[in-house]
Amino acid sequence: PVASLLEFGGVKIAKDDVVRDDPTNNVPDPIFSKLGMQLHRRNQHPIGILKNAIYEYFDTNYPNKFDKFDDLCPIVSVKQNFDDVLVPADHVSRSYNDTYYIDPQTVLRCHTSAHQAELLSGGHNHFLVTGDVYRRDSIDSTHYPVFHQMEGVRVFSPEDWEASGLDGTAYAAEDLKKCLEGLARHLFGSVEMRWIDAYFPFTNPSYELEIYFKEKWLEVLGCGVTEQEILKRGGRSNNVAWAFGLGLERLAMVLFDIPDIRLFWSTDERFTSQDLWSSVPRSLTYSYFHAVFPGPIGDQIQAIFEAKSVLQLFYFGFPPCYKDMSFWINESFTENNLCEVVRGVAGDLVEEVQLIDNFTNKKGMTSHCYRIAYRSMERSLTDDEINELQWNVRDQVEKKLNVVLR
Ligand code: PHE
Repeated sequence: PVASLLEFGGVKIAKDDVVRDDPTNNVPDPIFSKLGMQLHRRNQHPIGILKNAIYEYFDTNYPNKFDKFDDLCPIVSVKQNFDDVLVPADHVSRSYNDTYYIDPQTVLRCHTSAHQAELLSGGHNHFLVTGDVYRRDSIDSTHYPVFHQMEGVRVFSPEDWEASGLDGTAYAAEDLKKCLEGLARHLFGSVEMRWIDAYFPFTNPSYELEIYFKEKWLEVLGCGVTEQEILKRGGRSNNVAWAFGLGLERLAMVLFDIPDIRLFWSTDERFTSQDLWSSVPRSLTYSYFHAVFPGPIGDQIQAIFEAKSVLQLFYFGFPPCYKDMSFWINESFTENNLCEVVRGVAGDLVEEVQLIDNFTNKKGMTSHCYRIAYRSMERSLTDDEINELQWNVRDQVEKKLNVVLR
């Protein structure tokens, strides 16, 4: 079969090999190769360090309570990822444009919430699930198609709330907010926080927690009181529960001052070295970091800041290179598909893909112009190398997206 003739969500990206010779599979090689990397299980990696710092908070405040899972398979059923957590049949997150499908019934989980229902029916009352999650998205310094989340769930019984004079939902919501405010202080020190009303199919009421950090409001996590239907299906009609989900990269980038999300995947020794992340000697700034970041993570952050010059030296030392491309789009064009093709050619050398011009002519044809930023985090790219990448990108975009280059 000719791969480019098979279309779903506007594009067939999968390669013609045994595993992925299937029109309903949109998992390309660069994504496939991330399975099993488990950055969150590396104790000397910023994602693992952050996971451990969050574990520490739960271990201190709820000794021996939370069961921890960080090794659940990221390949899950559509039922686990969507149906079990009540995601409506027509929700956009189910589309091939947003989610990686292995076949029509199997996806790469797009959130750790995919494990909620099974763990609940398995009888777990307090648990944390950490894992890699996968989402098709556009390309910039804070978005990468693979990232890491931690999910937390706590179940209450009638005895827990009856004495409080509150109903179960109000009791759980209050407990949830207290728990997560404590977590935010553990990680960020005494910061200003605010709760924003939100919507998730699996919780009601739902909230987002934001903290004021370095002069900006930063969204830290999503959470809420678990929908009663989920508990009912898990044989837990008499219980009430709360749940939260947080993105580890987003927090690690802020805490460790990591400028680009691709750095988490760097195999450059200067990034992965134990020295950078753990054994940097303590300096005179110790008390400063502990004032700003009280708690154990202050140690880690201090180490990072001391080593930051190393990180910046090799990251900011290399300039980006910009290339523009324009084409007439068709009805099935999406930016996520474009980004997948660009990443398929340029891998982690692409830093950003940005729409810079968009117009429709009198015949009703729409043209888009995208600016692609190329930059290596590890070395200088040559003009020849970038030109070749750009020619390959143009070629692949034309073939795989059926657009007309201008
Ligand atoms: N799964 C949600 C997300 O990925 C986060 C979340 C988890 C929200 C649990 C509420 C409860 O954005």
